[in-house]
Amino acid sequence: MTNQLSPNLDPRVLAGMLSGKHLIDGALVPAASGKTFDVVSPATREAVAKAAYGEKADVDLAVAAAKKAQSSWSKKSARERGKLIAECGRILAGHVEELGRLIALETGKALRTESRVEASVLADAFTFYGGLGSELKGETIPFNPNMLSMTVVEPIGVVGAIIPWNVPLMLMALKIAPAMVAGNAVVVKSAEEAPLAVLRVCQILNTILPPGVFNILSGMGPECGAPLVAHKDVGKVTFTGSVETGKIVYKAAAEKLIPVTLELGGKSPMIVMGDADLERAVDGAVVGMRFTRQGQSCTAASRIFVHESIHDAFVQKLKAKVDAMKMGDPLDESTDIGTIISTQQFEKVQSYIKIGEAEGAVANRCSQKPSDGKLKDGLYVQPVIFTNVKNESRVAREEIFGPVTCVIKFKEFDEAIAAANDTEYGLAASIWTTNLKWALDATRRIDAGLVQVNQNLVVQPGMSYGGFRASGLGKEASLEAMLEHFTRKKMVMVNLQ
Ligand code: NAI
Ligand code: MG
Repeated sequence: MTNQLSPNLDPRVLAGMLSGKHLIDGALVPAASGKTFDVVSPATREAVAKAAYGEKADVDLAVAAAKKAQSSWSKKSARERGKLIAECGRILAGHVEELGRLIALETGKALRTESRVEASVLADAFTFYGGLGSELKGETIPFNPNMLSMTVVEPIGVVGAIIPWNVPLMLMALKIAPAMVAGNAVVVKSAEEAPLAVLRVCQILNTILPPGVFNILSGMGPECGAPLVAHKDVGKVTFTGSVETGKIVYKAAAEKLIPVTLELGGKSPMIVMGDADLERAVDGAVVGMRFTRQGQSCTAASRIFVHESIHDAFVQKLKAKVDAMKMGDPLDESTDIGTIISTQQFEKVQSYIKIGEAEGAVANRCSQKPSDGKLKDGLYVQPVIFTNVKNESRVAREEIFGPVTCVIKFKEFDEAIAAANDTEYGLAASIWTTNLKWALDATRRIDAGLVQVNQNLVVQPGMSYGGFRASGLGKEASLEAMLEHFTRKKMVMVNLQ
């Protein structure tokens, strides 16, 4: 019989093994109440496992375990913690295939284009942060020669991490790897739609981390996430999800006066000037809009401003590219585009397509839904490229979080910049041009936390990632994110006289 921790490439078997459990204090355990909820694969809408239905009692157990473990974890040297986190990265790299398959099963994201890639970014994030232990350093302040004055960087204690379902492995890694290197213990509340792959990661890593340093709970937001945020021993909350829930989390954290990082929504503009390399810009729109992730990305290029001189050619080429992408079984290697995560999101996306049409936009539907009998009930939505859209319309202002982008015509550079900034969000943006002045001017004038020129790369470890205004607070993914968000600074002054 194979060891339960050796990679298992059958995601249904793995899902069964993890069914109905949290991971608290190093052990897989059921919910205190014994309650569970179904984990549904959106490609077939079959229940593939149960998840433990976490509530306050489970939160109390997990936070107590984390608090106890944190005391000895924080006493290890920072380099030693870093080495263990880097070792986590090495071990996870050996599980990329199984984690990719499991995430494809539970989220409906295609294995080749999305899920396997996400699993390798997870491993990479641990490797990246594992090398940063010795950066947890303070400064000395030269007040006078008879006094040693210095700042010391300390962990906060127990960190509560609340994650969404769209890229759960990567988003979890970007929160917990820096938190743990900095000497904190973590309690993760997984998204109700995608509790399995992150639980598997926790199970794997608990073979080398001391019990209680990394705990994970599954459950609903109000019943499991809210008590985690409110728990008196949670000293920091890091959250990714909707603006609406982000505000609830922020208010609850304010009651305890604890720091919060919020990574919220977006309606990211992409500006394509008339002189842009058209082929590259079209490819950039496909990547930027995350069509392979069914557009379920907070940085999705969901407002594409295209200069009137190339508008029609751009739309035609973009449609042809997306038409050529294959929608199908997420676990099939030939599939480019999988499914929407849940019925709730499916209905939200459908309703926005109707709203756009009612507002007068033209919905150019792309690609084809799979006709295979097994997948006919799957949550497939044909990608939509809206043309004839006004920047004031709801489909151009509100986050759809589906494979729906808006192409908007413009005449002048200044007009495009103003339209790009006319949004409550400020997460990401890109400009496509061969004119250096326009490119640099746009990087200065666009009001967003990430501005790219002639590319639309996804988040990667090392970059300073985070939005302005309604898109959130704080940064993730970088060294600075670890130092600013998962530590506190103590001033120490020693009289030497
Ligand atoms: P959500 O923000 O409600 O859920 C995100 C996480 O917060 C989940 O783990 C959820 O259980 C938890 N949560 C919910 N209510 C909570 C509460 N009162 N206290 C503590 N935790 C709570 O997002 P949802 O419902 O999954 O999706 C709704 C919309 O949010 C999407 O259509 C999309 O527009 C946006 N969204 C944005 C994401 C991003 O990457 N910025 C990710 C997921 C959703
Ligand atoms: Mg919600």
